[in-house]
Amino acid sequence: MTSDSPAKNPAKTFHVKSFGCQMNVYDGERMAEMLGTQGYVPAADGAHADLVVLNTCHIREKAAEKVYSDIGRLKREDGSTPTIAVAGCVAQAEGAEIARRAPSVDVVVGPQAYHRLPDLIARAERGEKAIDLDMPLESKFGALPKRAGGQRPTAFLTVQEGCDKFCTYCVVPYTRGAEISRPFGDLIAEARALVAGGVREITLLGQNVNAWDGEDGKGRAIGLDGLIRELAREDGLERIRYTTSHPNDMTDGLIAAHGEIDKLMPFLHLPVQAGSDRILAAMNRSHSVDSYLRVIERVRAARPDIAISGDFIVGFPGESEADFEATLDIVRATNYAMAYSFKYSRRPGTPAATMDEQIDEAVMNDRLQRLQALLNQQQQAFNEATVGRATRLLLERKGKHDGQLIGKSPWLQSVHVTAPGLAIGDMTDVRITSAGPNSLGAEPLMEAVA
Ligand code: 5AD
Ligand code: SF4
Repeated sequence: MTSDSPAKNPAKTFHVKSFGCQMNVYDGERMAEMLGTQGYVPAADGAHADLVVLNTCHIREKAAEKVYSDIGRLKREDGSTPTIAVAGCVAQAEGAEIARRAPSVDVVVGPQAYHRLPDLIARAERGEKAIDLDMPLESKFGALPKRAGGQRPTAFLTVQEGCDKFCTYCVVPYTRGAEISRPFGDLIAEARALVAGGVREITLLGQNVNAWDGEDGKGRAIGLDGLIRELAREDGLERIRYTTSHPNDMTDGLIAAHGEIDKLMPFLHLPVQAGSDRILAAMNRSHSVDSYLRVIERVRAARPDIAISGDFIVGFPGESEADFEATLDIVRATNYAMAYSFKYSRRPGTPAATMDEQIDEAVMNDRLQRLQALLNQQQQAFNEATVGRATRLLLERKGKHDGQLIGKSPWLQSVHVTAPGLAIGDMTDVRITSAGPNSLGAEPLMEAVA
């Protein structure tokens, strides 16, 4: 600093804490990048940041209620609080009620309006409660700063948002709004920026990612498979994944893509939620057990080694023991590599919240335990079946032990490997040597995997 320059205030610090789904993680990263362009710097430690953004999840009651304890914890010993912004789906669902219940909250901003965060913070600094729950027609994506590229070799890229399916238990159509697909050109540009920043794997995100549609560079109508085909042409991008899909939007083209595009990883997250047609109808899933199993069969015909993952809800209103056993049956019929399972959570404003025959907590606990025991067994068996296999890892982070790195297999398993000269971001050929329920071990391979 020269003697005549004014003494600068130290830059303000921020911390963004994201809960819930991967789309929230993506939004959190975009908010952080935007705050960076506004002169904020990441806080070394969240507890002492000048600005804290809680990027919240509303999908189940527990997740939503957590926000209030998190806000309480931001109070410092001297009674002061940082500037607090509540973003994400709880913000959208509860709006001004949050600031009433938690007066230390300064900003409430919904998932479609967070590009306006700098303006909202400025208003809060002038002493206003700044609340923005708009779902503006102009997309936030156009207003966000260009992507910086990652410090990590993997990145998320939101290609589609919102949901028009209205499953009767789910808040997403209300908190995230109607289905929109981001334009093809914007996505290619964002992917290129990520790859230029060192990203080697991109996971395309959407609440209904396989409902993405758009026009390619030549004006032809394309679906998600067309987007994946175009992205696969990008040098430096080694792997492509996508999540989450709806069974009814698994088009012939997307299924075929799994057999044709090497960069498209052999992993499909395809939630079914329940295994009884009666419950699927009450959930308004608009698919049947049979149609789901047929999709799985066709995907496996296209890509025999594909890992299938799913989501399940136990204890939906009216679920009988026989309905629940049908869920165990569909799990046995599908054979999952991994899965997420939840107790039904009653969400205000959704049709299922007022249905008769809400299920007892103890019954839900018992069913969840039985379902998870079966899913864990399948996950362990899937992992064990990969032992002895030669495969390629993308190394993502350091392991616990010296020189150990953790990478992902094509089937999204976490695999530990120790070898000199390897670094995060490398693709490396290994042989899987051991399997636990949640991670695997491997040794380096000298010869390359085809
Ligand atoms: N209760 C329990 N689980 C739910 N999910 C969505 N809404 C609810 C709810 N009300 C689950 C579904 C969905 C996943 C993201 O969360 O399984 O696929
Ligand atoms: Fe929710 Fe159903 Fe839409 Fe998935 S498809 S986001 S579960 S409404």
